[in-house]
Amino acid sequence: MNQQFKATRIAVIGAGAVGSTTAYTLLLRHRATELVLIDANRNKALGDALDMNHGLPFVGGVKVWAGDYPDCADADIIIIAAGAAQRPGETRLDLLKRNVEIFENIIENVLKYNQNSILLVATNPVDIIAYFSWKKSGFPPHRVIGSGTLLDSARFRYLIGEKLRIDPRSIHGHIIGEHGDTELPVWSLTNIAGTSLELPEEDKQEIFANTRDAAYQIIQAKGATYYAIALALDRICAAILHNESSVLTVSTLLEDYHGISDVYLGVPCVVDRTGVRQVMKLSLADSEIEMLRRSANTLKDRIAEIRF
Ligand code: 2OP
Repeated sequence: MNQQFKATRIAVIGAGAVGSTTAYTLLLRHRATELVLIDANRNKALGDALDMNHGLPFVGGVKVWAGDYPDCADADIIIIAAGAAQRPGETRLDLLKRNVEIFENIIENVLKYNQNSILLVATNPVDIIAYFSWKKSGFPPHRVIGSGTLLDSARFRYLIGEKLRIDPRSIHGHIIGEHGDTELPVWSLTNIAGTSLELPEEDKQEIFANTRDAAYQIIQAKGATYYAIALALDRICAAILHNESSVLTVSTLLEDYHGISDVYLGVPCVVDRTGVRQVMKLSLADSEIEMLRRSANTLKDRIAEIRF
């Protein structure tokens, strides 16, 4: 046997609630052999790395450290979760200006050390920040991915599962569009083993409202959301590193998607080692296409405010 050990590295930029929980999730799942945490507040990254290192006797097989941008050099995936988060009452779009400024600097620094990695953006408003990262980096769009509506789709499947007493993993359903207030449920294609859902209209409305507003509810209750997004980011990393070709609802550049172009939105995509290998063209109902276009236009209006 002549098997050579090949290290896999994930860099996590931003050690706030989302970044540090994501790193911990990646550690527990042995998602990579090397995890590096980078934060403007180096002490926070140091503390997190130390804390996780003390767990290695229970986990093993992973190297975790607090680093800096040069450590991005060998990263297979660079997750960016840095920036301001919503305060109670704020929308994701309210964060735009602050987080674009932060990303100007982050992308510039990443580019100095790595031009081949996959960028996985989690910072809100995630679709616009992913679009900005794509433009600013000059990377091909398949290598710049936003976490998109993967989390919203998970919330949607969980809520349907609760209502019908079915394992959420057995529910095929997608939330598409903006990861935010203009997102929409694709009820026309939601199914369990190919069987369409027999849900009363008011249940559907309640499920979607609770999906769309979930983050507001959690932020009101405890200040931030981080466990489920960490699992969603880990899921995307697994699809990339294991070359899975899994279908995940991530944010990607749309090109003539039901007439929508030049904007990042969450739609089901085939994710493999190259990043987004393919965008799935859903056969949407006319009303869904209309809502998706409205979501795209909302984001485009905001993108127009950014200076590239
Ligand atoms: C979430 O949906 C706040 O975007 C974050 O949990």
